[in-house]
Amino acid sequence: MFWVYCSLGAVLVIYGVTLFVLSRSYPEPNWDWSQIDTSKLDFPPDFEWGAAVAAHQVEGGNHNNWSEWEKRVDASGNTPIQHGDVSGQAADQWNRYPEDVRRMKEELGLNGYRFSIEWSRIEPEQGRFDEAAIAHYHAVLDALQAAGIAPMVTIHHFTHPVWFEELGAFEKAENIPLFLRFAEKVFSEYEGKVSRWCTFNEIGPYSVMGYGLGVFPPGVKSYRRMAKVMRNVLVAHVQTYRLLKSLPGGDEAQIGLAKNIFQFDPYRRWNLIHWVQCRVMDNVFNQTILTFLKTGHFHLHIPGRVRMVETIPDAGGCLDFIGLNYYSTLLISLFMKKEPPFEPNLRPFQIRADMPYAIYGEGFHRALHRISQLEKPIWVTENGIADAKDDRRALWIQRYLYALNKAREEGCDVRGYYYWSLIDNFEWAEGYAMRFGLYEVDFSTQERRLRDGSQAYVDVIRASRSGQG
Ligand code: BGC
Repeated sequence: MFWVYCSLGAVLVIYGVTLFVLSRSYPEPNWDWSQIDTSKLDFPPDFEWGAAVAAHQVEGGNHNNWSEWEKRVDASGNTPIQHGDVSGQAADQWNRYPEDVRRMKEELGLNGYRFSIEWSRIEPEQGRFDEAAIAHYHAVLDALQAAGIAPMVTIHHFTHPVWFEELGAFEKAENIPLFLRFAEKVFSEYEGKVSRWCTFNEIGPYSVMGYGLGVFPPGVKSYRRMAKVMRNVLVAHVQTYRLLKSLPGGDEAQIGLAKNIFQFDPYRRWNLIHWVQCRVMDNVFNQTILTFLKTGHFHLHIPGRVRMVETIPDAGGCLDFIGLNYYSTLLISLFMKKEPPFEPNLRPFQIRADMPYAIYGEGFHRALHRISQLEKPIWVTENGIADAKDDRRALWIQRYLYALNKAREEGCDVRGYYYWSLIDNFEWAEGYAMRFGLYEVDFSTQERRLRDGSQAYVDVIRASRSGQG
């Protein structure tokens, strides 16, 4: 009996020590916001204040790309997007960009705009480039330039032409040169008008949602295939970086990518199983990519499912800046849903966004410190709330900009911030239910209306420009 008690005691001590070490290594700060004055900010007058969108989500009239996936109907009559939504006309930005640019300048006072170039428009068939589409993006860039708004162009934001998908997209390393050819084409066309480029948007979610959870096209649920895609897209990023740098204008161009950081915190901090889940998920979504970007070493491990280890020579540090997309943390527990609509675990004091996560400015502060470890200038390439009622948008803006300001004061080299999103848009698997826009869009008339909550952003921009915050 004595030995039974001793063994039990030893197990409890080991359990306790492990929890203690984990909690110290991965704290989950929750600030007392009632004691914080979020209006005390100190952004310099030349700080880059922007908004972000992606082609497929706002342009409208897409076909020959992700939109084919939206129309799928399975044997039980289910469609892949919530409520059977399709991107359709979206916010018609293809035609309404002059109005959007004018609003950005006159109503918001922005000096930065992040958008993506839709590959399926530029190269609708393999090897055939569409002059009209190329001219269109020239016109958008000219309008931005005339308004004094610096563009940041994303070359791949989740979507590509059907022909590329049919060839196996990034699951096949031999397809990477096809992406390089497109990247070279757009860079050569627009480099005189664009100084900052993101090669890819969110390599983690692109691989996990499309190939691990099967929620994005091509709807595959295989961690092995997911790992392969992630590895190949990272390699594609490195090759694109090197290629663009070697082209005329490459030396002056700033080339990076948009990396999202979603934290994974244990729902019950005493539960070791929750901790293990979090460490695995963090490895897949965050650490694998961060380590690769820094060192060129790829190490993705899901115990019992997949382990992929490879070092790509000279791949580390292929970035002139790092883009951070940050939204929130996920509180992880067993048996969470793996398909939308996801249902979040929340702390009792937390306020939920319409997306399945909480408003968590503290996490933004954590993410900024974490991404600083790459030792590159940082642009916040996305941050914003889906809030159809517009009763939490101002709170989100105040808390997250407070966190950003604090991180800057502590030494994080953040040069710009792009709110997601300028206008309501098509939110991938969730369709039109999620309203992220600073501007509300009435999709029946395409009218834009500045939301009341967005005024909090305008106020910060004005104060910063006038040297008072
Ligand atoms: C994506 C955007 C998306 C946003 C809001 C990011 O993951 O880059 O395209 O709309 O999050 O969920």
